[in-house]
Amino acid sequence: MSDPKTPAVEPHSGAAKPAITRRDFLNEATSGALGIAGLGSAVVLYQFFSPNVLFEPPSSFRAGKPDLYPANSVSFLLEQQVYIVHMPQGFYAVSAVCTHLGCITQYKQETSQIECPCHGSKFKQDGTKIEGPAPRPLPHFSITLTADGDLLVDKSQEVAPGQAPLKV
Ligand code: FES
Repeated sequence: MSDPKTPAVEPHSGAAKPAITRRDFLNEATSGALGIAGLGSAVVLYQFFSPNVLFEPPSSFRAGKPDLYPANSVSFLLEQQVYIVHMPQGFYAVSAVCTHLGCITQYKQETSQIECPCHGSKFKQDGTKIEGPAPRPLPHFSITLTADGDLLVDKSQEVAPGQAPLKV
């Protein structure tokens, strides 16, 4: 019989109780894993619902007054990657992007040719292919005059290379 005033002796009182039990550890690990999974799901959901907007420069641009381009000249507009070609018959807007794999071509004054530095395609001033792996001539873009007399190029509108140039 035990004395009711004496506390009962626990049978395993000799061993020290661990600071973290196995159950606590598993609970913490499960909570952490669920937290990481929840955070990952939140990121994926945010990306899913945020709009996929691609900011590109406008496709049409003013290329300035025609006087900027002397007769028989090919002028490269770096920002637009377009050549403004001023031939005796008028103005053309010719793409500077090679039709082979998309490298940016360069106009060579000494040969009066547009050349691709990547694989050697060569084009005439009006974009007609001379040689190389490019499958097509350089595209021509719509070129018109604004009401106040600027050249206006619209890269969203390709025109047939044989189409009459803009006469100013
Ligand atoms: S990208 Fe121009 S020739 Fe290949």
